[in-house]
Amino acid sequence: MIYPVILCGGSGTRLWPLSRVALPKPFLPLVSEETLFEQAVRRVAGDDRFAPPMVVAGVAHADIISDQLRDTPGARLVIEPCARNTAPAIALAAALLPEDAVMLVCPSDHHIADSAAFRAAALAAAALAAQDYLVSFGIAPDRPETGYGYLERGDPLPGGYAIRRFVEKPDLAGAREYLASGDFSWNGGIFAFRAGHLLAELAVHRPEMARLVRQAASEGRDDGARFLPAAEPFAAIAGDSIDYAVMENTDRAAMVLADMGWSDIGNWAALADALAASVDGNGNVARGGPVDLADCKGVFAQTDGPRISAVGLENVCIIVSGDEVLVTTREGAQAVGKLPGAANQ
Ligand code: GDD
Ligand code: MG
Repeated sequence: MIYPVILCGGSGTRLWPLSRVALPKPFLPLVSEETLFEQAVRRVAGDDRFAPPMVVAGVAHADIISDQLRDTPGARLVIEPCARNTAPAIALAAALLPEDAVMLVCPSDHHIADSAAFRAAALAAAALAAQDYLVSFGIAPDRPETGYGYLERGDPLPGGYAIRRFVEKPDLAGAREYLASGDFSWNGGIFAFRAGHLLAELAVHRPEMARLVRQAASEGRDDGARFLPAAEPFAAIAGDSIDYAVMENTDRAAMVLADMGWSDIGNWAALADALAASVDGNGNVARGGPVDLADCKGVFAQTDGPRISAVGLENVCIIVSGDEVLVTTREGAQAVGKLPGAANQ
């Protein structure tokens, strides 16, 4: 049995103005009618090899999550009093699971086109995790993206590979070198761990974090619908991501190769790419409506009301949401989070 742990945090400011602090990326129906969070839940539902999911999230989104979980019997909600990044969130889940449970850590803000390939990779990863490997999902890289972790393939293992080196968010020179070498995958941000093993590794690499997480878990309370860790020890944790805190430091890192149509939809250009199925003959994507494009190429246009009309544009994203209008080139999409409208919501 695999225990899915779904993480909901992060603000997703790069998808402003659609994604806002009150309703961030996981809770938006970006790619289909379902939200990314609902898709993450659905991906592991209705298959008796997976337990009902545990969802770890911040207090600001507890009600949205309860609502989006209404059709998921047995789901467990763990509410962090404050955000301390992914290492404490994952460790908290591990502390609440049986020691020998194999947990499958899933971000809630990715798009995965091929659920069957995802589940096959999860089974291979779980088999390695049961043998005390800390397992990451490796994605074939196609550009020198600096916002991801890079996994260097080592010796083959059953169903995967050892990781020789795990490099979180390299600089551009590093990312270019890893891409060119052909020996690296991106870290998809999906992990399989045996719960007790993850906690033991955390105790080695971040002993104080491990101690505070255990305390927050043991002194927390379950109000029937939600588990609330003790706020004081949890708030005292120095936040860090699982990538920096554990994956870069362990000598038990392994990976499975996952070819599953993965996109973390980090910005509007990435969303346009994930929607490739709805592209017209000139590479334009129009959503919502009405949208009139003349002599445009590679334009992504989305509106929830006012008509968008554009002539002669190439590789531009135009988003109209409520009282906000965003216009950016595809290259500029990565920097949208820095705009005052996105940063000062
Ligand atoms: N519960 C909870 N609490 N979840 C969190 C928190 C937190 O404090 N912080 C982040 N998350 C959730 C996010 O919502 C997201 O679903 C997931 O954990 C990963 O966090 P991000 O903040 O999006 O990480 P990242 O994109 O910078 O980097 C990670 O993902 C990349 C792939 O998308 C790393 O694992 C990289 O190595 C990886 O390549
Ligand atoms: Mg992310």
